[in-house]
Amino acid sequence: MSSVKIMCVVSLFILAVRSGKDLWKLECPPTVGIFAETTVIRCYFKDIKDIEIVAVYLTKVGEDEPLFSQEESKRSGDQRFSLENSAKGPSLKISKTMFSDEGEYLYHVITDSGFKGIKLSISVTAKYKDPVTSTWPEMVMDRGPVSLYCNATDGFPAGTINWFDQSGNNWTSNSVLTKDPKDNGSAKSVALSSKLTFKSIFLEWGPFRCIVYNSKYVKVGENYLNITPVINEKNMVSSASNTKSIVAGVIVIGSLTVGLLFALLFFRKRNHTHRRPSANPILSYEQGNGDDPEK
Ligand SMILES: *[C@@H]1O[C@H](CO)[C@@H](O)[C@H](O)[C@H]1NC(C)=O
Ligand SMILES: *[C@@H]1O[C@H](CO)[C@@H](O)[C@H](O)[C@H]1NC(C)=O
Ligand SMILES: *[C@@H]1O[C@H](CO)[C@@H](O)[C@H](O)[C@H]1NC(C)=O
Repeated sequence: MSSVKIMCVVSLFILAVRSGKDLWKLECPPTVGIFAETTVIRCYFKDIKDIEIVAVYLTKVGEDEPLFSQEESKRSGDQRFSLENSAKGPSLKISKTMFSDEGEYLYHVITDSGFKGIKLSISVTAKYKDPVTSTWPEMVMDRGPVSLYCNATDGFPAGTINWFDQSGNNWTSNSVLTKDPKDNGSAKSVALSSKLTFKSIFLEWGPFRCIVYNSKYVKVGENYLNITPVINEKNMVSSASNTKSIVAGVIVIGSLTVGLLFALLFFRKRNHTHRRPSANPILSYEQGNGDDPEK
């Protein structure tokens, strides 16, 4: 390589470094926001210090007009959008995030060191509410059949539900998960309902625990499920028959008592008639019938 050629390469290199003022970068990793909450779109300048933002413009891909812009301190467009802290960097903030904020955007930043444009993406999720649990039937027989339910609503995208018994055994593979997507235009959700069915359950396995995970398999909720036993049927039967025999006993004793009283009355009256036969002609007639064993 001739010295001239080397000179050329070196000077080209120097030129490239000089114009390095324009080699700085703007970066915004993909953003995941939460429905109804504040979302921060993290953006930063790379390979440069002492840079000042003059203006920013955020445009949804496919649209002409910016959805939001800020020139110096003048904001226009969707008032839910703002620069998080223009002194610190180009990060944006959305208050009360909506599902319609999902999508691809073009973000243009004008600074005292030049201008950059970048594509960024926003997706929106929704948090699952704490799960509600139930059993069918409501009261369960030991070694009887039962279905356990664990339902979680208002989350997006679809998550999943796992089941554990009292000693931590994982019953998830025996359960069936139903996903019910809803989209009313302003809110999206996928209701989850997990059903764990037993042909024969041992009551001491309870209480069961169901855990709700979001679409990234991060635990977002849990609930315990107590199994209410039926009042033991054998006890019910024996107590019923006890009542019956008590009633029967009362009747027997009652009738015996009544019979005894009649008998006493009868003998007393008859004794009286023995002493004073004239007092009762009917009784004396009966006596005369001759079927009294005492005669
Ligand atoms: C859970 O969902 C199932 C199926 O939709 C339903 O039968 C059950 O009653 C629900 N349980 C609760 C506590 O909402
Ligand atoms: C429980 O079982 C399910 C389904 O087999 C599995 O996906 C999950 O990772 C298990 N959970 C734990 C904590 O072992
Ligand atoms: C859509 O559903 C959400 C949550 O369930 C509710 O807050 C909102 O009012 C609903 N919007 C419409 C237009 O029905």
